[in-house]
Amino acid sequence: MKAQALTSDQRADALEESLMKQTHKPAVRRGTGVLFGGLTPSGAPIEIKPLAPMPPKPTLADFFRLRFMPHTVTHMLQSATDALKKGEPEDIVLACLLHDIAINLLKVDHGYWAAQMLEPYVSEKISWAIRHHQALRFFADPEAGYEYPQRYVQIFGEGYRPEPYIRAAYEQARKHKWYMEARMITVHDLYAFDPDMKVSIDPFVDIIGRRFRQPKEGLGFDGSPVAHMWRSLIYPDNPL
Ligand SMILES: [Fe+2]
Ligand SMILES: [Fe+2]
Repeated sequence: MKAQALTSDQRADALEESLMKQTHKPAVRRGTGVLFGGLTPSGAPIEIKPLAPMPPKPTLADFFRLRFMPHTVTHMLQSATDALKKGEPEDIVLACLLHDIAINLLKVDHGYWAAQMLEPYVSEKISWAIRHHQALRFFADPEAGYEYPQRYVQIFGEGYRPEPYIRAAYEQARKHKWYMEARMITVHDLYAFDPDMKVSIDPFVDIIGRRFRQPKEGLGFDGSPVAHMWRSLIYPDNPL
């Protein structure tokens, strides 16, 4: 039906309906961490289920097992599996394995959050690479095997231009000695969205043992400046 064939009441109704669709109010803001509900980065609704208690001295593997949401776990395991298969050094394999952990806590600026959560426990190179995958994923580098992902056209829309702070971080990273470490996170990320691929944390247990300084008190209880971030994942239902 053409617009001019509608009565003004009908036009108002149609407008209201299309506005409702556009502004369909989610229960939480879009940047919320996926452990807290809301939507996945691609916009799929997240089902909140009761959580098992964590052991008193949680390890990194406990977070993979009991707190990180399943779709983030399979994505990170697939990306690390791709890195391992292609013969990457252990630093890069571990960076791929951990690059999106913060999506569970906050989706906004997740690369920065993850780098900060990990800084006390991994090499500077690994946390640097994870921090900068945030900016690099918006910029193609065909020579390194990274094209702008089609997924981002769906998530951010056609012709999306990242914020100036993201472009500035990208330009700075381009000149850095660890540019390729961060770039490879984005490359292996492209091979990590296969819903049918079965993956396990087992092949990475030794690498975690060698490259991740697990605090003996448990993540969240070691008094580090980022312990509260891990505790927020341990106790996501605490009202204050
Ligand atoms: Fe990411
Ligand atoms: Fe990712």
